[in-house]
Amino acid sequence: MKRNKIKTILSSEAARPSVLLKGWVRTRRDAKTFSFIEINDGSCLNNIQVIADDQLENYEQIKKLSTGSAVSVTGTMHDSPGKGQQWEIHAIKIEIIHIAQDDYPLQKKRHTDEFLRTISHLRPRTNKYGAAFRLRSRLCFAIHQFFQDRGFTYVHTPILTGSDCEGAGELFQVTTLDMDNPPRTDGKTDYQHDFFGKTANLTVSGQLEGEMFALALGDIYTFGPTFRAENSHTSRHASEFWMVEPEMAFCDLAEDMDYAEEFIKFLVDFVMTHCASDLALFAKFVDKNLMKTLETIVSKNFIRLPYSEAISILNQSGKNFSYDVFFGADLQTEHERFLSEEHFKQPVIIYDYPKTIKPFYMRINDDDQTVAAMDVIVPRIGEIIGGSQREERLDLLETRMDETGVSRQDHWWYLDSRRYGSVPHSGFGLGLERMVMLVTGITNIRDVIPFPRTPGSIEF
Ligand code: 4AD
Ligand code: MG
Repeated sequence: MKRNKIKTILSSEAARPSVLLKGWVRTRRDAKTFSFIEINDGSCLNNIQVIADDQLENYEQIKKLSTGSAVSVTGTMHDSPGKGQQWEIHAIKIEIIHIAQDDYPLQKKRHTDEFLRTISHLRPRTNKYGAAFRLRSRLCFAIHQFFQDRGFTYVHTPILTGSDCEGAGELFQVTTLDMDNPPRTDGKTDYQHDFFGKTANLTVSGQLEGEMFALALGDIYTFGPTFRAENSHTSRHASEFWMVEPEMAFCDLAEDMDYAEEFIKFLVDFVMTHCASDLALFAKFVDKNLMKTLETIVSKNFIRLPYSEAISILNQSGKNFSYDVFFGADLQTEHERFLSEEHFKQPVIIYDYPKTIKPFYMRINDDDQTVAAMDVIVPRIGEIIGGSQREERLDLLETRMDETGVSRQDHWWYLDSRRYGSVPHSGFGLGLERMVMLVTGITNIRDVIPFPRTPGSIEF
């Protein structure tokens, strides 16, 4: 007989005559001639109650089942007289697969997120983390659905690259050289002897390669792991995270912003429709305003605000920010959160940023001071999407590369795309973890990645 999942059992209307269930014991309590065993199999938040009576041949063993133990249960389904559950299973046979040691760290009481981070290998077994990682999985599915439904092609851009897309120099270098004794020429490490014959690093973005495919296939997206060696100890930055990056040919900044807004609304609506019971846990235990925040995102048009106006609003706010606000300043999380949380109380798209704080590939506006960049900022998180229209004019792109110290020689292939059939095109990047944070109310990025990598921390 095929194993049934609790999720399917609970969502089907009719009782099945018999079921086979495999899972882990959450709790067990004994009555006179029965043992009540709460079982969870990870398929959904709900446990199912199994009733084992003392007629079962291994009843003495069953009474030793501790929290965390694994069992296989064959039984029949019945209406449950107990509160808070529709069904219960009367066991015909319980096979004990494993008895967990009784020093199992996840006993019934609630644990802090800080403690659970130290046992990242066990925390998906808790209600909250199970729900978070199921939601993460559903979001990934929804991301693919959004783009596939709209005719986008999924492109796998490389993880090992030779270029620094964002030009921020926050790269993890990849080498096979012997670090204790590297080959040297003129006193410097000679990377001609390295694995690829030159320096290589982990990608900070698949955008540049993605653009090459957009200029062939029209609309594309990349979706994969991304690495940044920024030494920022914040609750919103990880050294390894997942980013989805669509790139659209024949698309300007206004249309880029339309896509970004439609995309976020689609994802929020998707989890509200398809992940209701997991979401309810977050609304109850993590963020009491969660549903209101999500409903606002789905129902209201995002505010569109030029960067210069954002600066005026911040300057007139009367707030004491730790970072100064002036034209040319990079907006910090405190500024972004003030705008989206306090001032507008909804998502805001800021656009036309000064060129001095943005990468070389963004399209220069006619004022020669700003670029066609946009960031989507949302309550609680700040920036969730960063994107732009790309510079499609060869001469202006070359000038920007020279100004920002990006090598034309290394990017000969990128420049080629502006020589042969160059067209206006745009795209953006959405951080998957920040999206999970948005829909769960979880405030620390370490708690939405299975095994977080942050400065000074690579356990597991
Ligand atoms: O704004 P960013 O740096 O943009 C890019 O990388 C562009 N190449 C995207 C594009 O236009 N194709 O990053 C995009 C998003 C951010 O808005 C944020 O959500 C997320 O990626 N992000 C991070 N998430 C977690 N940890 C980090 N260290 C992150 N850095 C960026
Ligand atoms: Mg950004």
